[in-house]
Amino acid sequence: MKVFLNKTIPEAGMRLLQDSNKVELIQPESENLTKEQWLDYCKQATVIANVGKNNFDKDFFEQCPNVKAIALFSVGYDHVAIEEATKRKIAVSNTPDVLSKATSDVAFLLMQSVSRKAAYNFDKVKTGKWYTDLNPTEDLGQQLYGKTLGIFGLGRIGYEMAKKCKYAFDMEIIYHNRNRNIEIEKELGAQYISFNELVQLADVLSIHANYTDEQENLFNRNVFEQMKNNSILINTARGGFINEEDLYEALTSGKIWGAGLDVTNPEPMETTSALLSLSNVCVLPHIGSATEEARNGMAELMVQNVLAFAENKKMPTIVNPEIYL
Ligand code: DGY
Repeated sequence: MKVFLNKTIPEAGMRLLQDSNKVELIQPESENLTKEQWLDYCKQATVIANVGKNNFDKDFFEQCPNVKAIALFSVGYDHVAIEEATKRKIAVSNTPDVLSKATSDVAFLLMQSVSRKAAYNFDKVKTGKWYTDLNPTEDLGQQLYGKTLGIFGLGRIGYEMAKKCKYAFDMEIIYHNRNRNIEIEKELGAQYISFNELVQLADVLSIHANYTDEQENLFNRNVFEQMKNNSILINTARGGFINEEDLYEALTSGKIWGAGLDVTNPEPMETTSALLSLSNVCVLPHIGSATEEARNGMAELMVQNVLAFAENKKMPTIVNPEIYL
């Protein structure tokens, strides 16, 4: 079965792919393809093993009728028109679980970095602005002990973030999700509340939901107005959730206290973004899953999905199992 892999993945996954006698691997000479070149490769393949943000929309499916499966190297699948794929019985798989700890670690890191202005202070050291004597009121952070963590989207990553915050800082956990999760409520004493209550009550609001186009700019001026003045917004999910202009306004007018972003809209964030000038903001370049352990796990899981499909089996982490109904 012809499998197009657009980028080299960690060794563990590469070996599995190369050793399989079910797979005829197509790899481009360059990993920086134009959209046309990328499409030409896709047209030759039955399975697309995809690394990165290539868009799989209706137009793609029309142009690549030979494609029967897409195995993503990501947990997020907002760049795939799932309904369209399902209608055409094209299997789509992602890489959940293996990156939950790594991604929640970045949410936790951002929360701490923002609460103690770590990135800003590191910059001061690098630019020779280390204060000459202690100033008791300058650039103070805020402590996290006993504060309330609001989780928007209590899936696997949200759960890992909640657990860390509970055990490290004895934070109260409130959450909003499509469904209640009674087990996690029992384990962490988490409380399920409405979206409006979540934004009004959280000291730290961390976004972990799956992104869909309908949620574009969900976190906007109206929401920031309801949030606490001391609150910190963390986003390790997708940049589209946040209206960045409104966020800048909320941060500079004191409606909210700080923001930590591992994802932005667009990506990469423009270096001229006003958000980068603020002491209460920390931005990372989408490194949620960037540990050796997580990336190895993602590589193996992506390839397991490819191999299952090549062997006519259900992909272990298929996103649209309805195709088999
Ligand atoms: C994911 O796995 O969805 C990460 O955000 C990388 O895109």
